[in-house]
Amino acid sequence: MRTVPITVHWRQENRTIRLDVPEGEYILRSFEQQGEPLPFSCRNGCCTACAVRVIAGEIDQREALGLSREIRSKGYGLLCVARATGPLEVETQDEDEVYELQFGRHFGRGKVRPGIPLDDE
Ligand code: FES
Repeated sequence: MRTVPITVHWRQENRTIRLDVPEGEYILRSFEQQGEPLPFSCRNGCCTACAVRVIAGEIDQREALGLSREIRSKGYGLLCVARATGPLEVETQDEDEVYELQFGRHFGRGKVRPGIPLDDE
């Protein structure tokens, strides 16, 4: 079976992990199977806990439901639903970085008062 080299710079752990992943396999799952579990939560492309920034190569985004088009265009991807399609180098996000980029503007804007739209605060 053909494999592709996947490199993950796990910034919080100060480690770089390079593994060969069988073509078409999910990257997160293959890393786990090879003894290198990476950060995750939902495992189905919704929570962004496994989000990474792409440094080189292309990431398969077909199943990344939890990422807006805008965030994808900034070079982020979700490893739990990314399949190995070619050589790829990524780095882990800062804690909750992608979640904040995507949802931060919708939360934490003060009290929600009945009948008063958020934009009028
Ligand atoms: S683990 Fe939740 S989006 Fe990947």
